[in-house]
Amino acid sequence: MTTTPLRHLAIIMDGNGRWAKQQGLGRTKGHEKGAEVIRQITTHCANHCDIQSITFYAFSTENWKRPKAEVAFLMKLLERYLRSELPRYQEHGIRFQAIGDLSSFSTALQEQIAKTQEATQHNTALTQVIALNYGGRQEITSAVNQLIAQGRSTLTPEDISHALQTPYSDIDLLIRTSGEERISNFLLWQLSYAEFYFSPTLWPDFTPKELEEIINNFKQRNRRFGGL
Ligand code: IPE
Ligand code: IPE
Ligand code: MG
Repeated sequence: MTTTPLRHLAIIMDGNGRWAKQQGLGRTKGHEKGAEVIRQITTHCANHCDIQSITFYAFSTENWKRPKAEVAFLMKLLERYLRSELPRYQEHGIRFQAIGDLSSFSTALQEQIAKTQEATQHNTALTQVIALNYGGRQEITSAVNQLIAQGRSTLTPEDISHALQTPYSDIDLLIRTSGEERISNFLLWQLSYAEFYFSPTLWPDFTPKELEEIINNFKQRNRRFGGL
């Protein structure tokens, strides 16, 4: 029996705060453990999965509503993560890309992102995309505005796909952890025909073993895309 290929996986990493609370810790500890899990899952996939890209939702355009201290911690954590990850990206052949409106970030963070993207641009084992200050509606709106600014008046779906900030394929499988079952403004356009999997596991407890089980489940699915 042929199995369904998985090229592009997207993950809404949810439950860091609830995990920390369960452990009697502050929310920031949940984010720290969550960052370790991104590392584990990415390294696992670069070496053991037949996937081209994984897009992780790390910070949404709505996450600015959180307390200032938590937002500041997340920014620092991201900078630290990228700085410490570079040798690992190179060792495992991982290409790093960021999507989202990066202009609201500090210059130091923007530079760290640019430097990491450039240093890893020729790696081919896996592309790790991290969505930062990302919103699906904002991404579509700015793509359309860009086309209007070029003088276009009538658009096709292909025009919009190509103008999106993410010059990559549609999503095959979306996983959301922590038991919540919603999209929260993630990749609205690219999820058009994605398969969904909602796991009750809190993101800091998510493991490569569970990912493998979800991928096996996905591979048995019959994707019809409107056909028979
Ligand atoms: C996901 O975990 C990480 C981010 C959104 C940055 P949460 O921080 O949303 O954790 P919960 O949902 O409060 O448990
Ligand atoms: C979605 O998680 C955003 C990220 C994982 C970065 P949230 O925890 O912010 O989403 P809601 O508020 O529960 O929808
Ligand atoms: Mg949450």
